[in-house]
Amino acid sequence: MSGYFISIEGGEGAGKSTALGCIKTWLTDQGIEFIVTREPGGTPLAEEIRNLVLAPRDEPVDVYAELLLVFAARVQHVKQTILPALKAGKWVISDRFVDSSYIYQGIGRNIDAKVIDDLVDRFLQGALPDATLLLDVPVSIGLQRVASRGEMNRLDGESIAFHEKVRSGFLALAAKHSQRIHVIDANQSLESVEADICNVLSDLNTSAVGNP
Ligand SMILES: Nc1ncnc2c1ncn2[C@@H]1O[C@H](COP(=O)(O)OP(=O)(O)O)[C@@H](O)[C@H]1O
Ligand SMILES: [Mg+2]
Repeated sequence: MSGYFISIEGGEGAGKSTALGCIKTWLTDQGIEFIVTREPGGTPLAEEIRNLVLAPRDEPVDVYAELLLVFAARVQHVKQTILPALKAGKWVISDRFVDSSYIYQGIGRNIDAKVIDDLVDRFLQGALPDATLLLDVPVSIGLQRVASRGEMNRLDGESIAFHEKVRSGFLALAAKHSQRIHVIDANQSLESVEADICNVLSDLNTSAVGNP
């Protein structure tokens, strides 16, 4: 038996981490076994790499150094956390996954998507999301939410133009992978966002059960 892998994607302040709350409640109510994890992170080593990647610093960070750090964390995450849970039949919910690299390092930092494709093919052992929830919110709203949340990391502090590229990049990716990526309008009340997420989860559960 193998589990079901869902990633949550979107720009800063879209509400990804907040959405985990209603997702956990929904999975528990369905009696589905699951783990919740995040990227960069999801193992002790990968969480250390997260701190390295996200810490604001004066030294310019080379785009390939950032890409490889994120992938080093991801390889460890897949091996130690994601694959064992899927093999145990659990659902895996990850706050960000590889789409974030195609958008932040690929589109945001102008790294050729083929370089990322190669890393995915060589190192991720086929561990790719069955479904992705893309929380979409206008950049100004997302950044206001981040500001009110209080903590700013190195990527939160990028230019508005960078965040606009991230948003449009995610929407283009969703159009390209419309079967896998479900766009949620995150510019609504939290209750409405949560209701939309639960609707998508119900549909996914029906299809996951239908195709074990
Ligand atoms: N639908 C919403 N409406 C208003 N505020 C929200 C909504 N969703 C999340 N927030 C708030 O916005 C901030 C950022 O949310 P968070 O889940 O941390 O975003 P992300 O993980 O996508 O960066 C948090 O303070 C959260 O409480
Ligand atoms: Mg978050």
